[in-house]
Amino acid sequence: MVSLNLKTSLLFVASALGALVSAVPNPGTVTGNIAVHDPTLCRDGSGKYWLFSTGPGIEIRTSTDRIAWTLVGAVFPNGAATWTNEYTGKNNGDLWAPDCYYQNGELLLYYAASSFGSQKSAIFLAKSSSGNPGTWSNLGLVTATTPSNDYNAIDANLVIDNGQWYLSLGSFWTGIKMININSSTGKPSSSSLTSLARRTAAGGAIEASTIYKNGNFFYLFTSWDKCCSGTSSTYNIRVGRSSSVNGPYVDKSGVALTSGGGTLVLGSHDAVWFHNLCRFFAVLTALRTSQIIGPGGQDVYTDADGPILVYHHYTSSGSSLGINRLDFSSGWPVVV
Ligand SMILES: *[C@@H]1O[C@H](CO)[C@@H](O)[C@H](O)[C@H]1NC(C)=O
Repeated sequence: MVSLNLKTSLLFVASALGALVSAVPNPGTVTGNIAVHDPTLCRDGSGKYWLFSTGPGIEIRTSTDRIAWTLVGAVFPNGAATWTNEYTGKNNGDLWAPDCYYQNGELLLYYAASSFGSQKSAIFLAKSSSGNPGTWSNLGLVTATTPSNDYNAIDANLVIDNGQWYLSLGSFWTGIKMININSSTGKPSSSSLTSLARRTAAGGAIEASTIYKNGNFFYLFTSWDKCCSGTSSTYNIRVGRSSSVNGPYVDKSGVALTSGGGTLVLGSHDAVWFHNLCRFFAVLTALRTSQIIGPGGQDVYTDADGPILVYHHYTSSGSSLGINRLDFSSGWPVVV
């Protein structure tokens, strides 16, 4: 009885401490195979969830409830995407940061092929009416960069405004760009390039753009700092807004995103000392895993319960899918 009360008290104190050190909500519950990078989420006509993410041939996961996820295979299984090899530098290399869009009974998917630190990069387009592994048609190259460009053609995101299609893209160098897309081909409709955001610090570390319209504003989400480094990742999700899809975007303090602006939406949270304290009091196992490191590679999707933020982060057990609702009622997105 005494020990039960002690345990209950400890849990209570730990929860209170947890609430103090973690003003930021943890990811919502997700189960199954959730070891993803750079996820993008869509629902098809039947309401089924599709989640695509970085991996050889692009990983496909499905869910019926947005909680339990099943890895069903690859968009291009067994190295079938041979046209990407010249950009990845290998056979069946990782294809990066896909972006999906569902319309007229078809899933469209933009994705990138590159290698770390290289501007020899390309964004490609694929489509499928079922979404299943191996059913995807290659619609070919959308846009590419070489080391003579001052930006990098990866991390595509489709945004549609009044029937006009746009693709934002970019990683490091001079930052995030936007191109105009022909809605019937999914390919560029002009050679114009608009600059949307640029880091002035941290070696220009900005990527993973996602543009989402809410109310009278377009919100440009980006990931800052270092991705993909396990619990050493420093990725964090930033935002700015504009009344026009192609900018100018400013952050909450009025700093232009092209001048290094960007308001924090979600960064690493749950302090290491709290994590270690929980580890010390082995009784608090359930709370130990709540350390969220390097959230980023995000997508924003309108689901039945409103806007949701879909991202990856690291815990002590590896990379993981994060899903939270976003509250825009203040005019700026807040993770809930
Ligand atoms: C879009 O592509 C279609 C098919 O190639 C073409 O007929 C149409 O003129 C293009 N529209 C624009 C605005 O470029």
